[in-house]
Amino acid sequence: MLFIHILFIYRMYYVVIKSLNRMEVNVKKLLILIFLSNAVLAMQNNYSTSSQWLMDMDVVDDRFRAIQKQFRGFDTAMMEVGYRYEAIKKALFLHNYELASYHLQKVQVAIENGYIRRPARKEASQNYFLNTTFKELQKALETKDDTLVTHSFDNLKNSCNACHINQNVGFIVIE
Ligand code: HEC
Repeated sequence: MLFIHILFIYRMYYVVIKSLNRMEVNVKKLLILIFLSNAVLAMQNNYSTSSQWLMDMDVVDDRFRAIQKQFRGFDTAMMEVGYRYEAIKKALFLHNYELASYHLQKVQVAIENGYIRRPARKEASQNYFLNTTFKELQKALETKDDTLVTHSFDNLKNSCNACHINQNVGFIVIE
């Protein structure tokens, strides 16, 4: 197997060298230029092709920048919020208020982490959600009063949508 492999590489090498020899000088120059510019581009890109993509970066600041990029922005926070919103809805349907409180708490964490990454979203997060409907539902869940909980959850849903409109993503509608 190894022998066939070596033979194959040797054959490829032979073909390349032969065709290079036959080529015009200008074409050779062009090929070398393309090869070099690719190498420069690969260096600028800075990403390694190995699974050590982060540690393989030589400059420490580049590693932080790469981590920052991987953490993304408010969208990933909202993906978690969307998931937990549905989990709260299901928990309320089952009257499992402890579970609903658990997920609601994580919604707060997700939104706070989200606006640390995107500070422009902080004020709206607090006005539309954290200082208002979030606290209201949190308190309602402690009372375990079905009517109050249902009413507060409805208010919470409306505040999700109000913030979406305020932040120019009104096409994302929570039901
Ligand atoms: C700061 C105001 C704000 C509040 C409060 C808010 N959202 Fe969002 N939401 C956004 C913004 C902004 C986006 C678009 C994010 C982006 O594209 O970077 C978004 C996007 C989303 C998305 C789409 C995520 C995706 O990319 O797949 C979902 C789902 C979502 N929000 C659910 C909710 C739910 C549920 C609530 C209420 C519990 C809520 N949001 C409250 C601002 C808010």
